Amino acid sequence: MKLFHSTSTLLTALLMILASSCSDPENNEAQPTLETSVYGTLPDEQEVKIFTLTNANGMTAKVTEYGAILVSVTSADKNGKQADLTHGYDDLDGWLTNTSYFGSSVGRFGNRIADGKFTLDEKEYQLATNNDPGGIPCHLHGGIKGFDKVLWKGEPFETKGARGVKFTYVSPDGEEGYPGKLTVETTYTLNDKDELSWETQATTDAPTILNIVHHSYWNLSGDSSTSINDHELTLFADHYLPTNAGLIPTGEKAPVSGTPLDFTEATPIGKRVEEDFEALKLGGGYDHAWVLRGDKEGELTKAARLHDPKSGRILEILTNQPAIQFYGGNFLDGKATGKNGQKYQYRTALCLETEGWPDAPNNPSAPSAVLRPGETYHHIMVHRFSAE
Ligand code: BGC
Repeated sequence: MKLFHSTSTLLTALLMILASSCSDPENNEAQPTLETSVYGTLPDEQEVKIFTLTNANGMTAKVTEYGAILVSVTSADKNGKQADLTHGYDDLDGWLTNTSYFGSSVGRFGNRIADGKFTLDEKEYQLATNNDPGGIPCHLHGGIKGFDKVLWKGEPFETKGARGVKFTYVSPDGEEGYPGKLTVETTYTLNDKDELSWETQATTDAPTILNIVHHSYWNLSGDSSTSINDHELTLFADHYLPTNAGLIPTGEKAPVSGTPLDFTEATPIGKRVEEDFEALKLGGGYDHAWVLRGDKEGELTKAARLHDPKSGRILEILTNQPAIQFYGGNFLDGKATGKNGQKYQYRTALCLETEGWPDAPNNPSAPSAVLRPGETYHHIMVHRFSAE
């Protein structure tokens, strides 16, 4: 039987076969790409870009200039199915209502500062008190208009086996009450080994304090309506920082051993979250900083491993920071309407935030959070995805 009538028909047939294999969802050989487009405009008419990174395995990450936010991340489950694993919004207008810091680059000082006060070189500074857990006011995540709500400038780049976007922002002296003009670079890179890194560097022209933090909310099931209580968590930490009712560390560094905060072995999050334990009562669940043991993988420290038994997805986190805040989504209350109209409910996502110690400027035993002219702040956080 004559299958093809001419060379051109044969060519057309071959092209069609090739095209169908490229669009086959079961075909894991994706073409790495980096796309830039306009996401929208801010109320002051400034244009905002969004960048879509796709790696050779079909994993994607979207990042935007607004708040240097990680808009979405897809990764494959044990059957190769990609799904978005983060809480957030469908469009820029949604992100403008983001009061939960979904996906954000948080600064200048991520986490809390007691009473919004700190003293640096004998001068006292008063920051905004924009949060009050337990009715006790504190400064949270950089204040009223922190790094999560400003417009960064994004520059996409490609290297061998990876692609990313470098965001820059210059925070003027006195912004949100912090001293010094701070120049910040935050870079997201997605490589073909399914690693998404978030890396921040900063320099200042006057002594200042900082703790710039990445604040994504994860639900590895890919279904943002489900609880994360069945996710199994390992934290590479033997100590945590107990807090007062205002979620400010007391200054004590307590062993996790024998407490529901012991995640030295993989443990389902929901297993002990309702136990009658003071730290859990104060936090309304898990909302604490753990001090990392310092287990090394290359230059970096192992921080956390999260596993969703149903989808098989695994997220491992590595860093160069001394601590990690594990926040179990206890303040999610169904009020925020996010992606696909989803109302994000209690404990449907969790944050794993590598960082310095909360309230470090007021805690003499904490690693210093001070940056001086001539020094460079450097925070690296690697998210490694896999499934089994
Ligand atoms: C904190 C929570 C806070 C949340 C705000 C987390 O980093 O630990 O206490 O409510 O951020 O989204």
